[in-house]
Amino acid sequence: MTSTTAPPPESAGGRTDLPPLDVLLPAAEHLPPDPREERLAALYAYGPPARGAHVVRANMVASVDGAAWGPDHRSGSINDDADWRVFRVLRALADVVLVGAGTARAEGYTALDRPRGLRHLHDAPLELAIVTRTGRVPEALARGDRAPFVLTGPAGAAAARGAVPADRVLVVGHDAEGTSPGPDAAVDLAAGLAALADRGLARVLTEGGPTLLGDLLAADLVDELCVTTTPTVVGQGPGRIVAGAAPSGTTALPPRGARLAHLLHSPEDRPGSPAGTTAARWLLPIG
Ligand SMILES: NC(=O)c1ccc[n+]([C@@H]2O[C@H](COP(=O)([O-])OP(=O)(O)OC[C@H]3O[C@@H](n4cnc5c(N)ncnc54)[C@H](OP(=O)(O)O)[C@@H]3O)[C@@H](O)[C@H]2O)c1
Repeated sequence: MTSTTAPPPESAGGRTDLPPLDVLLPAAEHLPPDPREERLAALYAYGPPARGAHVVRANMVASVDGAAWGPDHRSGSINDDADWRVFRVLRALADVVLVGAGTARAEGYTALDRPRGLRHLHDAPLELAIVTRTGRVPEALARGDRAPFVLTGPAGAAAARGAVPADRVLVVGHDAEGTSPGPDAAVDLAAGLAALADRGLARVLTEGGPTLLGDLLAADLVDELCVTTTPTVVGQGPGRIVAGAAPSGTTALPPRGARLAHLLHSPEDRPGSPAGTTAARWLLPIG
């Protein structure tokens, strides 16, 4: 996520000084800064649902050497203005942004607004949904004006209902036996996405984090993966954009193919956005 997934200040919305982007693939095209972002929005238009009533797009940023965050443990320290240009268009097109509670805490998420200047692309309010096993909702979200949806299992239901109105809590889980909830009761992500779609929130943008993205991929719930690679090298320490232990220490899934829908490139060296950032949109066939 994030410019990625650090929710950039809304005051940055409507900027006209964002860098140009070149479309390298499928066909060369230059995208100068455009306050309305019509062309970029067309390139990222949601496809039809294939895995349920919803379409799930993930948007993540990584350094050249694969780091998902910088030394401050935030993705904001590895992103740049080219990433931000794509990031805000993806938010403009979504019905709901889905994040793990860890990301909401690390990146300081608050209630979301549609990016300023892009409301012509989608004028409904932009909802936020967080996934949490414990039901612990970050303070800034619990006391905010607009509560997020909280996707949790039975073990997290009481805590979540103590933090946000009951109609925002979607209890979608079961324990391993499907009976009484233990503290490790899983959250049923497929049921959570179906519950959001029932509420008219079918175009989902997940901004991570790596644990949630790993679980969504393991359940084959991700339709597309948008990955920005910024020209930074972070070195040892941070994890990659997907985390989580696969059962028995092996990979949970055999490597799957992905199809490149398009590849963007930021050609200009400028303050806040060195040349070289690429933004790829990968489509994930049903596994
Ligand atoms: N590079 C990028 O694009 C990007 C994007 C996002 C985040 N990040 C970075 O990633 C780091 C955070 O990583 P993370 O893996 O901890 O993030 P995360 O997946 O957002 O957070 C993990 C927490 O979210 C909840 N959660 C996630 N998946 C769940 C599931 N399937 N079921 C139930 N609960 C679930 C749990 O919360 P509870 O503990 O409340 O149960 C879990 O402890 C931060 O440094 C952040 O800056 C990078």
